[in-house]
Amino acid sequence: MGAELPDDAVEAMRRAEVVTVFTGAGMSAESGVATFRDVETGLWQRFDPAQIATPEAWASDPGLVWAWYQWRAHIVHEAAPNRGHRALADLERTHTVLIATQNVDDLHERAGSSSVSHLHGSLFAPRCSNCARPYQGIDAEPEQAVHELRVEPPACPACLSPVRPGVVWFGEGLPDDAWRSAASAFTFADVVLVVGTSGVVYPAAGLPERAAARGIPVIEFNPEPSALTGIATHSIRASAAVGLSAMLDALGASG
Ligand code: OAD
Repeated sequence: MGAELPDDAVEAMRRAEVVTVFTGAGMSAESGVATFRDVETGLWQRFDPAQIATPEAWASDPGLVWAWYQWRAHIVHEAAPNRGHRALADLERTHTVLIATQNVDDLHERAGSSSVSHLHGSLFAPRCSNCARPYQGIDAEPEQAVHELRVEPPACPACLSPVRPGVVWFGEGLPDDAWRSAASAFTFADVVLVVGTSGVVYPAAGLPERAAARGIPVIEFNPEPSALTGIATHSIRASAAVGLSAMLDALGASG
């Protein structure tokens, strides 16, 4: 089943040199990774991500928060990039593709995309909660399936403080380097793709809005309308895997 793509959308992509892609959890849904606002199943069903992904939860129960993120890292480790991730990697054959993702998984990188900035951090970048030193210990490896509700976080070898997940929690600032590279990706964009995001979390969601305000074509791929549909030049009701691979096929066909 393909996706109906407006000719203008394909033409905007064909003319573009720099394609900036803003992705959210829907990008990884077809890899079997639950979207942020899907209800989790199993062990973690009764926990609301918005309650765990907070500095308060970390302060009051670090073992629960560490176990939850280790479990999520394990889920991602077992998952594979989908056709949508691969389409964005293939697009690099003909375009400069700059990805700014809200996702904390590594599926864009594993599909072969070479420019990915993680606005909300990464499951695979634990760091010391005190001295911020990156942690490479074996106990942060996602091979170890985590089935316990609590796992004590490892201690930083340099200062012995607890190691924390390398993700952005509600109320925390975005990583400066990721924000700067994402902002410049939108500055240089000839076209912006918005894929699989509800577009409700700022400041990230402000990036495609700013591009649209400058008249840059914005093409959204989402089975549902989102908070960014209003600023999209084209909003295509298709999933990431179906929509993005259809776009690559159309570009291939149009030469
Ligand atoms: P959400 O769960 O809010 O939204 C997922 C979006 O993906 C929805 O609009 C779905 O319609 C869409 N979707 C679902 N399946 C899809 C598919 N197969 N293809 C394309 N789209 C699909 O996730 P995000 O928008 O990523 O922030 O959430 C943004 C941020 O909210 C997260 O990064 C997180 C959360 O607060 C932090 O953790 C700081």
